[in-house]
Amino acid sequence: MKLKLIKYHESYRDQVFSELVPQKYFIKYTTKSLFYKILKSLKIYSNYFLLLSNDNNDIMGCILLRKKLSPIKMKIEWFIYGVAISTKYRGQGYGNILINETINWCREKKVKEIFLLVEKDNNPALNLYKKNEFKTLPLDGLKALRIKRKKSNIVMLKQF
Ligand SMILES: CC(C)(COP(=O)(O)OP(=O)(O)OC[C@H]1O[C@@H](n2cnc3c(N)ncnc32)[C@H](O)[C@@H]1OP(=O)(O)O)[C@@H](O)C(=O)NCCC(=O)NCCS
Repeated sequence: MKLKLIKYHESYRDQVFSELVPQKYFIKYTTKSLFYKILKSLKIYSNYFLLLSNDNNDIMGCILLRKKLSPIKMKIEWFIYGVAISTKYRGQGYGNILINETINWCREKKVKEIFLLVEKDNNPALNLYKKNEFKTLPLDGLKALRIKRKKSNIVMLKQF
């Protein structure tokens, strides 16, 4: 089966909504509000909502990437904001494919490093990221990076 990453489009709305991510999440990151358009035109934020699709155009998973300008460091930073595989496809290697395809997509965009935040007790996600060589950042180093996080989150980084 050939799998590919495709950009989110309105026609996938129902599938993504019902099987992958909650409505709240979906609206926040996919609707193009005026506020978001302004941020994008100022090159402060760009969101990339990508879907993993198979030959039958089934949406198996999604990932949200965000490119943002850190005003303090004056540097562009990339974050993975959400990864999900549809429950019926979990545990079959698709999460791994989604991460690998995303890393290739980032390489094409000449991205050098990606950060992500993950709940400390989310073992499936933690294992998936570790398997793909994301390294946990030490807590005392996070202040210098100025990455906001909830106490229940850890921050991971992959450099390539
Ligand atoms: C995390 C998630 C995306 C993994 O997707 P998946 O398709 O089931 O993962 P894969 O089958 O590709 O497994 C890849 C690796 O993830 C880890 N993993 C996956 N499921 C796991 C589980 N139930 N328990 C522990 N580790 C697990 C393993 O390291 C696995 O590698 P292995 O098979 O060599 O052991 C999926 O569980 C999911 O959608 N979870 C809900 C959303 C979520 O929590 N997202 C993360 C937000 S940061």
